[in-house]
Amino acid sequence: MDPAGKRAIVLGGTSGIGLATAQLLMQQGANVCALSRSADNAERARAALGDDADIRQLDVLDREAMSALFAELAPIDILVNAATGGERATGPFLEMDLDGFQGSFRKLWGYVNCVRLGGPLLSDNGCIVLVSGAPARKCPPGFAAISSVGNAVEGFCRAVAPEIAPRRINVVSPGFIDTPMFPVQGEAREEFLRNTTASNVIKRAGTPEEVAHAIMFAVENEFVTGTTVDVDGGALLP
Ligand SMILES: NC(=O)c1ccc[n+]([C@@H]2O[C@H](COP(=O)([O-])OP(=O)(O)OC[C@H]3O[C@@H](n4cnc5c(N)ncnc54)[C@H](OP(=O)(O)O)[C@@H]3O)[C@@H](O)[C@H]2O)c1
Repeated sequence: MDPAGKRAIVLGGTSGIGLATAQLLMQQGANVCALSRSADNAERARAALGDDADIRQLDVLDREAMSALFAELAPIDILVNAATGGERATGPFLEMDLDGFQGSFRKLWGYVNCVRLGGPLLSDNGCIVLVSGAPARKCPPGFAAISSVGNAVEGFCRAVAPEIAPRRINVVSPGFIDTPMFPVQGEAREEFLRNTTASNVIKRAGTPEEVAHAIMFAVENEFVTGTTVDVDGGALLP
């Protein structure tokens, strides 16, 4: 699919991977609407995407608002969901707060909402891209919740791909990516990113743009559906 002139919606499109994807889609001539919850992120995204960008506020857990948005913008050609959805519970599983574990699944519910509500409004060759993460298939200690959510996202994609055909759905799975998801700043941030990627084959954090390019691959290649594309610096290798 050539994104030029296509209607694209990027949920979680105001920061990190989603913002880089919105930028790339705009550069390729797509008609992009980027969304997330906060006014602060919307403001920062406007600085990156320009004054003409269509940036709106939406919580991916608000089904009514999502339905209204999709109905307004339909038919949808490209639907990307990179929203984290809410909290990310980490730490030893046997000490984990169960509300935190359950809360991590908000990301999955945001994804399920957008596929259920947006799927029927996709154009005939429309496509969806979701984002999982390397811990789905190689879980470091303390990442049981995030790993479970990532596996659920990848399984969900495989489950619905046959049903939504000829429309397509794929997942991109990033390793550690240098985005605002990690709030630590300055030298501590450098050290954090260095330590977390020390056992990768490529020993650095990825960039949001590197993940956005994989999302574009899933958008553009019309022979790809129901699969997961890894962009993780070799994080899954032994
Ligand atoms: N960075 C990494 O190392 C990494 C690794 C593996 C997987 N991932 C996954 O990649 C995706 C993007 O992460 P990122 O690193 O780009 O994070 P990020 O920079 O924190 O961006 C997350 C985006 O999601 C939006 N968002 C969060 N909850 C939302 C909700 N309920 N409704 C609507 N928008 C919501 C945020 O904006 P608001 O706060 O304004 O809503 C923001 O625009 C996530 O699914 C994350 O789990 C990231």
